[in-house]
This record gives sequence, C-alpha cells and structure tokens, in this order.
Amino acid sequence: MSLPICYQGPISDFDSVLTSFEKKWTNLYILVDENTKIDCLPRLLDSSKVLKEANLLVLDPGEDTKTIEIADSLWSSLLETGADRKSLIINLGGGVVTDLGGFVASTFKRGIDFIHIPTTLLGQVDAAIGGKTGVNLEYSKNQVGTFAHPLFVYTDSQFLKTLPERELISGLAEVVKYGLIADKSLFSLLKDKDSLIANLDVLISTSIKLKEEFVVADFKETGERKKLNFGHTIGHAVESYFMGDVLHGEAIALGMICESYISFQMEKITESELNEVVEMIFSFFEKIELETKMFDSLLDEMRADKKNEDGKLNFTLIIGIGESEINYFIDEKLVIESLNFYSTINNLKN
Ligand SMILES: NC(=O)c1ccc[n+]([C@@H]2O[C@H](COP(=O)([O-])OP(=O)(O)OC[C@H]3O[C@@H](n4cnc5c(N)ncnc54)[C@H](O)[C@@H]3O)[C@@H](O)[C@H]2O)c1
Repeated sequence: MSLPICYQGPISDFDSVLTSFEKKWTNLYILVDENTKIDCLPRLLDSSKVLKEANLLVLDPGEDTKTIEIADSLWSSLLETGADRKSLIINLGGGVVTDLGGFVASTFKRGIDFIHIPTTLLGQVDAAIGGKTGVNLEYSKNQVGTFAHPLFVYTDSQFLKTLPERELISGLAEVVKYGLIADKSLFSLLKDKDSLIANLDVLISTSIKLKEEFVVADFKETGERKKLNFGHTIGHAVESYFMGDVLHGEAIALGMICESYISFQMEKITESELNEVVEMIFSFFEKIELETKMFDSLLDEMRADKKNEDGKLNFTLIIGIGESEINYFIDEKLVIESLNFYSTINNLKN
C-alpha cells in the first residue's frame, strides 16, 4: 500500500507542491480553528496564490469540537456553499482539525480530496500521518471514523513557533514513544535537552518515517501498527477520565510509565531500563495526581478499548528500549499495580 507523500519544508513551497498534482478542483476550502486562523492562516495565505479565493471554515479550538454534530454542521456548510465531489479541503491545524477535517472530507459525497497541514507537534509527528480520521462520542475517544488518506501532508516546523509550550511538550510524548517502541537512537537524541529545538526537524522527520513504516506494514491495524498504541491503553483512559484537563501527550506519558512498569513485571525490560523511561518522561512532564478511587473508572475506560479481545485488556509492551511486541493480554491486577507504581513516584521534574 502506498502512502501519501509527506513534504517537510517551508510553507512558501506549498503552491508548487499543490500544482504538481495537476488536478482541477471546483471549490477550495481551508478548515482552521480560531487559534490557527490567527497564528497560521496568514502565513499560508501569504505563501499561496492558489488559496487566495478559498472558502474559510472556522472551528472552536479544542477536543470538544471533535463531534458528529460539528461534522454535521461542516457537511451542511459544504453543501450550502456548493461543494461537489471535485472540491478540496485543506486542514490547517492540530490533531482536532486534521481528524475532524479528514473525517468530513472522507465522508462528504462518499469522499473528496483533502490535504493536511499539521500545525502542532503532535499533528506533525502523529495525527496527520497514517490515514485515521474520526470524532468522539460523548467522552469516548475516536469511536466513529474512517481510514482515509489525504492527497498529501505538508509539514513546516515554523508553524510550531506560536504553539504554547505545554502543547509542544505534549507532542514530544509521541516522539518518546517512537523511540521506545522502535528506535533507541531517537530515544537517546531526546536526552540532549539543550539541542532539542535545533534537532526539532530531525525529530519530526524520524518520527514521520517510523510511523509511515508501521502504517505501510499494517494500514488497518490488525498487527504491527498496534505497536503505536504503546502507552495509549492506560493513557486514553486517563485522557477520557480528566475530560480535557489533561492533554493527549500528558496522558500518554503517564500511560508509557505504567505500561513500561508492566513490561518490567513481564520481564521484558530491566529495572534500570524502567528507571530510564521514568527519568525521560519526568524530564518533560509534570506528574498527574492519581487517586486510588479513580482506578475503577480508569479500568472501565480501558475495558472499552477497541484492541481488547474476549473482554481481556490488550497491551503493547516494550522489549528493552527500542523494540516492542503486540498482543499481551494483561491481568487487571497488574494494571492496577502499574497505576499504584506511578502514584508512588516522586515528581522528578525540576
Ligand atoms: N488520527 C490519528 O492518528 C491521531 C493520532 C494522535 C492523536 N490524534 C488526535 O489528535 C488530537 C490532539 O491533537 P493536538 O494535540 O494537535 O490538539 P489540538 O488540535 O486541539 O491543538 C492543540 C491546541 O493548539 C492550538 N494550535 C494548533 N496549532 C497552533 C499553532 N501553530 N500556534 C498556536 N496554537 C496552535 C489549537 O488551536 C489548540 O488550542 C486528539 O483529538 C487526538 O485524538 C489523532
């Protein structure tokens, strides 16, 4: 299966990439949220003659926007403004804009062209890559969606200059994850805190390459791609529990510590490797306070995870640092133990 090309470079080259597809679209749309409208849209429009006449669709920022109701309102806006099957949507924003915009485009009139221009680190290294789109149901994440590829993904790290630091750090969780599951040298590169910004383009391109390899191997996530879920079984439960107060990457960082603890208890990593993971995560992230009374609700969330089979919780574990294996069905007692382990770590971030 071939993937859409992911261009990495200055947004000033956007038009030449777009026109190289030699396609004619009847209507152009740019989907933004209120923040990317202010911080990112002017740069895109300054660089592009082609997009000058595009219609603008503007969302409220944040996870609450990723709903079927908002998708419905976007489908209606498209219809009202004469969109047809030859229309094109450009999704300019973080994972919320690309997930929702991709979902709307891949379902409107059974699918129209769309392009992702991710503007958060999380979007650039993860959400915009791999063809998953979707919306949330209530607070259960990504329950409705499609597998659909954009025409291409255009990544310019300069967009990250306006991104709040908390969002930037949140995106780093996925880079840490790629290092843990598949690339020890990427994990090591993250230890060099002083060069983090200087290394940003390398961190992004390495992450994109790693994610693409998993997607090519297993587009519909029946095997290898499940490795990308490391940290996410527990992380998603925490993210859902805190309903927007904890960012995606912050929850995944917690999940990676717990799931590394499980890997340690399953004798897949050593104690010193577990400590290395804990140290790395807390060099970026504050500790999230968990209380024992939350654990039942967290387990309930985990039981709803799409990867489970026969009612058993399914985990990806790390095998040393830089390798991983899928389909470990883990006893709930060990999951609770991992949450307790996390709770007892002293906050190491200084
Ligand atoms: N499809 C996938 O494979 C996949 C993978 C991982 C995550 N996701 C989804 O991605 C979403 C999270 O994405 P996110 O972390 O990018 O969140 P987000 O889209 O909510 O963006 C975070 C915040 O940053 C703002 N913002 C975006 N770019 C900016 C910029 N350049 N300057 C200033 N502000 C900017 C946004 O307006 C928002 O307030 C979740 O819904 C998650 O489920 C999808």
